[in-house]
Amino acid sequence: MPTLKFPRQEPIGSPMGNIIRSLFVAAMCAGLAGCAVEEEDPVAAEIALLKQDFPPMADRPPADPTNGVADDAAAARLGQKLFFEQRYSENGQVSCATCHNPGTAYQDDRNNTALGLDFTGRHTPTVLNAAYVVDPETDTNWMFWDGRKDSMWSQALGPPEDAKEMGGSRMGIAFMLYDLYKEEYEAVFGAMPTLRDEDGTALFATEGKPGTNAWDALSAEDQTAFSRVYSNFGKAIAAYERLVVSGNSAYDKWYAEVVDGGAADSSHLSASARRGLSLFIGKAACGTCHNGAAFSDGGFHNTGVEQSGPHLPAEDYGRADGMASMVADEFNCAGEFSDHPNKERCAAAHAEDLEARQGAFKTPPLRNVALSAPYMHTGTLETLAEVVEFYDDGGSDSGFSGEKDEEIVPLNLSESEQADLVAFLESLTGEDVPAELTTEPELPPDP
Ligand code: HEC
Ligand code: HEC
Repeated sequence: MPTLKFPRQEPIGSPMGNIIRSLFVAAMCAGLAGCAVEEEDPVAAEIALLKQDFPPMADRPPADPTNGVADDAAAARLGQKLFFEQRYSENGQVSCATCHNPGTAYQDDRNNTALGLDFTGRHTPTVLNAAYVVDPETDTNWMFWDGRKDSMWSQALGPPEDAKEMGGSRMGIAFMLYDLYKEEYEAVFGAMPTLRDEDGTALFATEGKPGTNAWDALSAEDQTAFSRVYSNFGKAIAAYERLVVSGNSAYDKWYAEVVDGGAADSSHLSASARRGLSLFIGKAACGTCHNGAAFSDGGFHNTGVEQSGPHLPAEDYGRADGMASMVADEFNCAGEFSDHPNKERCAAAHAEDLEARQGAFKTPPLRNVALSAPYMHTGTLETLAEVVEFYDDGGSDSGFSGEKDEEIVPLNLSESEQADLVAFLESLTGEDVPAELTTEPELPPDP
C-alpha cells in the first residue's frame, strides 16, 4: 500500500490480514483451553470479521465533498432529466440511459462492450450503488474501470464529449441547458451566463469543446464560464446517481438477524448461500478485495482478465493510464471546478504517492451482480458461474498487461463449492430502485 502524506480517514484495515488472523485464531483456539468462547468458534470469528470489514449498507452513500449539490433534491430532479436526455448527443439518440439502462440494472447487456455512436473498448459498469465505492486510502470515489475520474460528477463529463459515446460538446450542452432547463438550472446553481441576445440570436458558437476552433476562439474567461456550466451539468447528474441505490437483499436480512441481531441462524440465506459466504470471506478470499458495504475495496487490482473478445483493444493498461488522465484532468478534485473545502486532501494533489499498476482495474461492487451480466471490464464472462470458474483457475494465464495480484491463484474449489459461491452472490440482489427514479421523467419540449 502506498504511504500517503496527506491526512485521511483510518483505513478499514487489511481484510486479508483479518481473514487470516480470525481463522488462524479460530484454529489455534480450537485445541487450547482458556481462549475466549468467541475465538473458539469459527462462526463467531466469521461474525467478527463481517462486523469489521463488511459493515451494512447505509441508506445514503458517503458524503461527496467535491460536489456542493451532491444531496440536493432539486439538483437530483434536474439530473434525472439530464440522465435520460438525448438531445445533446451528436445524433440526438444517445443518453446516459442508453448504456446505463435502468431495465438491465443500470448497465448494458446488449454487447460485451458499450455501444453509443460506436463501440467502446470496455464493458459498461453499473451506476447502481456506485457512489458507495470509496477507497479508504484516499477517501476517493474512483470512477471508471481505470479510475481516470476521481468523482461522480467529473465522471459524467466524460461520455458527453467522447466521440464514440455521445459526440456532444460542452458549448452545445450549455446552450441546451439555456434553452430548455434555464429555470431549473438557475434554481440550483444561480444565474447562467447570457448565451443569447434579446432576439434569441446566439452570442457564441452553439457547439464547441477543447480541441475545436470554436473553443479556441473563446477568451479564457468565457472558456471557464462554459466549463463551469458543464461541471454543474455533471454535478446535477451525480446528485441523481447518488439516489440510484438498492439494498435490503436476502444477505442484508440475514446480516441484520445473525450478525447484528445475534441470532444463531436465519432463513434468509439458503444453506448453499451461507456456505458460499464462508468461502467468500474465507478459503476463496474474495473478501480480500470485495469488502465494505458494497463489496468493493474501492481500489485497483490485476486479476488477469484476458483481452480477448469483440471490440477489445489488444492491450489495456488499466490503472496505469487512468492515473495519468486523472492527474491531468481539469475537473479533478484538486481543480477549480471542485467544491472540496480542502483541496490539499485530494488524491490528485498527491498523485506521486499513489500506486498506478499496469493492468489493474477497479474492484466492482457486487451488490445486484446477478442482474448485471456480462462481467469484467471486457464483458466477456457471461455468467457468475463463469466468473467463479475464472477465479478457481487463478485468472487467465496470458493476454493481459502487468502482473496478477498475489491473491489470484488457483483455488481448487469443488463444483459444489463453486455453486455455493454463486448462490451467495445471488443473495446480494437488493430491492428494486423506486419506479419514480428509474423511469424517464417528462422532458421539456424543443424550443
Ligand atoms: C456508449 C455507452 C455509454 C454512455 C452513453 C454513457 N456511459 Fe457511462 N460508462 C460506459 C462505459 C463503457 C463505462 C466504463 C468505461 C471505462 O471504464 O473506461 C462507463 C462508466 C460509467 C460510470 C462509472 C461507474 C464505476 O463504477 O466506475 C458511471 C457512474 C457512468 N458511466 C455514468 C454515466 C453517465 C452519467 C452518462 C451520461 C452523461 C454515461 N455514463 C453515458 C458506457 C456509457
Ligand atoms: C485481488 C482482488 C480480487 C479478488 C481476490 C477477487 N476479486 Fe473479483 N474482481 C476484482 C477486480 C479488480 C475485478 C474487475 C476485473 C477486471 O474487469 O479486469 C473483479 C470482478 C469481479 C466480478 C465481476 C463484476 C462485474 O460487475 O463485472 C465478480 C462477480 C467477482 N469479481 C467476484 C469475485 C469472487 C466470487 C471472488 C472470489 C472467488 C473474487 N471476485 C475475488 C478483484 C478481486
